[in-house]
Amino acid sequence: MKIIGSVKEDLVREKRISITPETVKKFSDLNFSVLLENKYGEHLGISDEEYKNKGASLNNSAKEVLEKSEIILRVNCPSNDEISLIKDKSILIGQFDLLLNKETINKLIKKEVKIFSLNLLPRITRAQSMDVLSSQANLAGYRAVIESVEEFGKAVPMMMTAAGTITPAKVLVIGAGVAGLQAIATAKRLGAIVSATDVRTVAKEQVESLGGKFLAVEGAENLETSGGYAKEAGEDFKKKQTELLKNLVKNNDIIICTALIPGKKAPRIISEEMVKSMKPGSIIYDLAVSQGGNSAFSEADKVKVLNGVKVMGAKNILNNLALSASNLYARNLSSFVNNLYSKEKKDIYINQEDEIISKTLINKEL
Ligand code: NAI
Repeated sequence: MKIIGSVKEDLVREKRISITPETVKKFSDLNFSVLLENKYGEHLGISDEEYKNKGASLNNSAKEVLEKSEIILRVNCPSNDEISLIKDKSILIGQFDLLLNKETINKLIKKEVKIFSLNLLPRITRAQSMDVLSSQANLAGYRAVIESVEEFGKAVPMMMTAAGTITPAKVLVIGAGVAGLQAIATAKRLGAIVSATDVRTVAKEQVESLGGKFLAVEGAENLETSGGYAKEAGEDFKKKQTELLKNLVKNNDIIICTALIPGKKAPRIISEEMVKSMKPGSIIYDLAVSQGGNSAFSEADKVKVLNGVKVMGAKNILNNLALSASNLYARNLSSFVNNLYSKEKKDIYINQEDEIISKTLINKEL
C-alpha cells in the first residue's frame, strides 16, 4: 500500500491545504494509505476526527509524514529542513513556481525526487479538472472585489429610497482572463456598473455575456498567442491603451487589475498620474502585485493611500478564503493523482506519453 502524505505549511504565508476529508476518501479508494500531520486542517475548522472518519492517519509529526510518504502533496515548495526529511525517489506534487524555487527544485532533483508542478499543466480539456491556475484565480477574482468593496466607503448597487437615490458604483476590470471574468461576475452580482478591457479581442464576447461593457483599444491588433494567452503589448498599443484609460479611471470607483503575460513581469497599465486623477475614496485592487503590479504604487499586503485613493493587493489573497481554495485545490490534486494511477498496474505509473504527465514533470536540474 503506497503512502500519500501532506503536512501543514508555514501558516503565515500559506493557509491552504492539499488534502481534504473528501479527497482522503478518493485516495483510499485507490488503495493509498493517507498520512497527515496532526491538526492538519484545524486552522480551517477541519478536525482530526473528520479526517480519521474518512480513513486517514493523523497521529503523526510533520517529520514522520515526510519521512514515510512515497507521494507528498503540497501547495508551495518545501523548506530546506523539509527537503532533508523527504525520502529519496519519492513523488512531490504541488503548484511550484520554477523561477522562484530554482535552488529548492535542484536540491530535490539531486535526491531523485519526481516533482510535478501543476502550474505547467497543458490547457487541454482532459486536464480541466486538475487546473489549479483556473480554480485559484477564479476565487482570487471574486475575493478582490469583496475586499475592494469592504474598503470602499459607499454602497455598490443603485438604491432608491424615500430619502433619495444612491447611484451604483462603477467598477473597471483590467484583464478579462480567469480572475478578471470572475471579478466582473462578482461586481455585477453586487449591482455595480462594470466595464473591462483586454488585449485579446475574444474577451469582448465573454465580458458582454456577463453583463459587462467591453472597452476595446481602438485600432489595435489582437494580442493573442495560439495557446490563448496574451502577447506583450508594443509601444503603440500601450500609448493607445493609456489614451483610452486616462479618462475612464477618473469616472470609476473601483479598479480591479488582473493583467498577466505568462512568465513575464506584469504590464504596468495604471500610471501614477492616473491614480492621482481618480476621485478620493476610489479603490485599486492589484491582483498582479506579486509580479510587479499593473498599477503604480501597489505594494503587496499594504493599503497605500494617495489623495484619498486606496491602492491595495495581497501577495496571497487565497489565504482569505483558504477553505474554499483548499477544497478546489485538493480536488485538482486528487484528479491529477488519479491520472497518474494505472488501473492495470494498480500503482502509480509515470507514463511519459501522457501529455499531462510529461509536461508537468520536472526531472532534471533547472
Ligand atoms: P489569465 O492569464 O487568465 O488572465 C490575464 C488576462 O490579462 C488575460 O486575459 C490577458 O489577455 C490580459 N492582459 C494581458 N496583458 C494585458 C494588457 N496590457 N492590458 C489588458 N489586459 C491584458 O490570468 P489569471 O489566472 O486571471 O490571473 C490574473 C492575475 O492574478 C495574475 O497576475 C495572477 O498571478 C494573479 N493572481 C494573484 C493571486 C494573489 O493571491 N495575489 C491569486 C491568483 C491569481
